[in-house]
Order: sequence, then structure tokens, then C-alpha cells
Amino acid sequence: MPEAQGAVKDRRHMTSHTFAHQGPLTGTINVPGDKSISHRALMFAGLAVGQSQITGLLEGEDVLATAAAMRQFGAEVTRGADGIWTVHGAGVGSLLEPKQALDMGNSGTSTRLLMGLVASHAITATFIGDASLSGRPMKRVIDPLSLMGASIHASAGGTLPLMLRGAAPAVPITYRLPVASAQVKSAVLLAGLNTPGITRVIEPVPTRDHTERMLAGFGATLEVGEENGERIIAIHGEADLKPMDVTVPGDPSSAAFFMVAASIVPGSDLTIRNVGLNPTRAGLLQVLLAMGADITELEAREVGGEPVADLRVRHAQLSGIDIDPAIAPSMIDEFPVLFVAAAMASGTTRTTGLEELRVKESDRLTTMAAALTLAGAGVEEHEDGLTIHGTGGEPLVGTPQGASVATRLDHRIAMSMAVAGLVSRNGVSVDDTAPINTSFPTFMGLLDEAAA
Ligand code: S3P
Repeated sequence: MPEAQGAVKDRRHMTSHTFAHQGPLTGTINVPGDKSISHRALMFAGLAVGQSQITGLLEGEDVLATAAAMRQFGAEVTRGADGIWTVHGAGVGSLLEPKQALDMGNSGTSTRLLMGLVASHAITATFIGDASLSGRPMKRVIDPLSLMGASIHASAGGTLPLMLRGAAPAVPITYRLPVASAQVKSAVLLAGLNTPGITRVIEPVPTRDHTERMLAGFGATLEVGEENGERIIAIHGEADLKPMDVTVPGDPSSAAFFMVAASIVPGSDLTIRNVGLNPTRAGLLQVLLAMGADITELEAREVGGEPVADLRVRHAQLSGIDIDPAIAPSMIDEFPVLFVAAAMASGTTRTTGLEELRVKESDRLTTMAAALTLAGAGVEEHEDGLTIHGTGGEPLVGTPQGASVATRLDHRIAMSMAVAGLVSRNGVSVDDTAPINTSFPTFMGLLDEAAA
């Protein structure tokens, strides 16, 4: 890699914070827009010819990185004073070559999906990111995109910074996902949009299906079938996407922190409005209910083609369970906060099949095991999961004067440990809350509001 492309950006200002018992969570809150859907809304609108409007877009750093990249590709992306975003797309096949390196910050979704986009256009782009993102594996997208004809020069170990030269024309492939990853699936489908012929992805284990749902809405020709228990998604290339207005439902992965907080803080009775409940995302709700949580779905409806409901969450004594690894893809981002729920349950919770957690924004098995141990929970770490011995509802008793929990540039570790602080006798001190802004900028305010 040329030196100039190798700069890795780190967060310079760490903001530590101590989270402590604040009383029950009550009232009604709205969580911000779904991160996965927000990224895709900007990308697909940026590929459509004409004007799309996006209501409820998540304005977190990750999604803003996608917006900035789409501008560099030639889409016009603006935010109105009313919070509605307007996108004039550049058109499939007409992306401009970015003038500067694409700074993806902390965002794996932006990186992997946009690599797919570039792979079938006659342009070259350089991708850079922060220290967390620069340690994450990109080989999983480099492999299929190379098969399609893209030429990719990555840093040693297959990581960012990397430079990608798209193929024109790219070659359609049939690709069986070696890891259950919606990002890899989406990268291949996005590359397929500007590839002659039909590009297919075979999914042995279903992952979030927002790409399929939304691409169909934007007018792509796409077939989803099943063979031998595996999902097969076929996208017809050289697509013309039509503009569409998108309303983004609330993010179940953000709601998760409040679902767990209200479940474990005695006296809580909290309603979380407008939570996306796509079955490929709703695993945490099922698991919490199986642990004995008191959560009711109210006013089930559809928003932007996705099932949505309000969730009323009341405190309940949870019981530890063995979690079936088959449910993992539908709650993959929710394990850190599920571990907090398990720490307060009666009995033992065992998780397995979670190797993917080791390559998220941090190694979420090691980071959460260390953080929860410091906070006073009984945790054993295994290669593919954690075993957690709950307190049976007694507050966590960690080190007096709370040693600081290391979040390792991982927003979900910071928010999970904030929730642990609410049930801790000595409070939980988190070394850096700044990463929360990547996905949930209103988190601290909502926590204060709900626990006031
Ligand atoms: C995402 C897919 C998941 C998830 C990430 C968002 C997406 O990643 O963890 O937060 O929007 O496609 P993987 O594809 O690595 O499982």
C-alpha cells in the first residue's frame, strides 16, 4: 500500500463516564432509525435515477460515513431542516471515482457494502478506517469480489487500508457464504447490480434480509428461493433502480439496551416505540421471553415494508438458559447486552457458536468477559461463547471505586456496560463513551430521561 493511503485514524478524545443505579425506567421512548436500513437507504437511493426521500434516517457516525461516500460517488445527499434526507442518485453504472480516500470510520457495514458497489464499476477507491475497523477481516468480501473480477490490494492480513479497482464488466458468480454474514451477502448482491447476467448468493444460515427487501422496493429484479434448506438470492444485473421514499423503523439493536435495562431494574415499566421486528433481527426478544421477561408487543404494524411494534417492558426476574446457536444470526449484535441480562438472571446462561463475535468492532467475547468480571459478574470465557452465572437479581458488586471498563472502540460494549451500571452497587465506570455516537447518539439522553 502506498504510504499516503495508510493513515489509520484513531479517536483522539476519550470520554469516560460512570453509570450508577438511577431508579426504575419508566415512560415512553423512541429509539433512532435502524442502522442497517439507514445505510442501505442511502446506498440504494444513491444508485437510483431520480429523487428519493428518507424519513427517520439514523444520524450516527457510521451512517454519515456512508452518506459522505455516496456523495463522493456522485450522488447528491442533503438533510432538510425537518430531518428528512433527500437523495438524487447517480445511477447504477454511473458512479464517479472518489477524489479522496473513503473514510469509513468505525463502520464495517459501510466498508463491506461499498466495496461491493465499487467492485463492478470502472473506478478505483481507497478505504480507510479507525483502529477498530482497520483490524477487522475483509478477506470475506475480498474473496467473492475478486472472483467477480475486482482487483484489491489490502494491508497485510486482509485488512484496511485497502484499494479496490472495480471490474467493468464484472463476472456474475454463484457464491455460497462461508460465514453467516449479511454484509458479505449484501456486498455480492450490490456488485451484482452492475454485472451482466445473474449473480447468486447461497445462504446456508439466513441473515438479516434488508438488502433483499429494499432492493426489490427500489425496482431491482431479484428472486429469493430455497433449495435443500438453504436460501438462494438471485439478482439480475445491469439494473435500473427507481427512486423510492423510505421510512426507517426504529433499530431493534438500539432498543435492545432498553429492553434489557427495563427487564433487570426493579420497578421498571417502559414503552419503547416503533421497534423493528423483522424476524431476521428479533432473536433477542425471543430469548428474553424464554428467560421469563415481561415484554408485550403493542400495535403491531408495518413501517417501510418492515414489521414494527411498540414494546412494553416491565421488570421481571429472569432465569438463565442455554441459548441455541441457531438463533445467533438474528441477534448477533445483541449478545453483549444479553450477557448483562444473564448476569442478573437466576442460574446459569450458556452461549455457544459465537465465534463471529470475536471479529466485531471488538472481540466481544473477551471484552465482555473482562468488563463483566470487573463489574462483579461470574463469567467463564470459551472459544465460542460465554457461560454466565447470574446473581439471581442481587446487584452486581464490582471493584470499589469501579476500575474502568475497556470498551475498545466498541459502541455496543459501552452501552451494555452502561446498562450493567444501573444494577451495580458501586457503579460501572466506562473508559470511553464516544463510540456510542457511531450508532446511537441519543443513548445517554434517553437513559437519563427513562431513569429520571
Ligand atoms: C450488518 C450485519 C451484521 C451486523 C452489523 C450490521 C448489516 O454483520 O453485525 O452490525 O447491516 O448487514 P455481519 O454481516 O458481519 O454479520
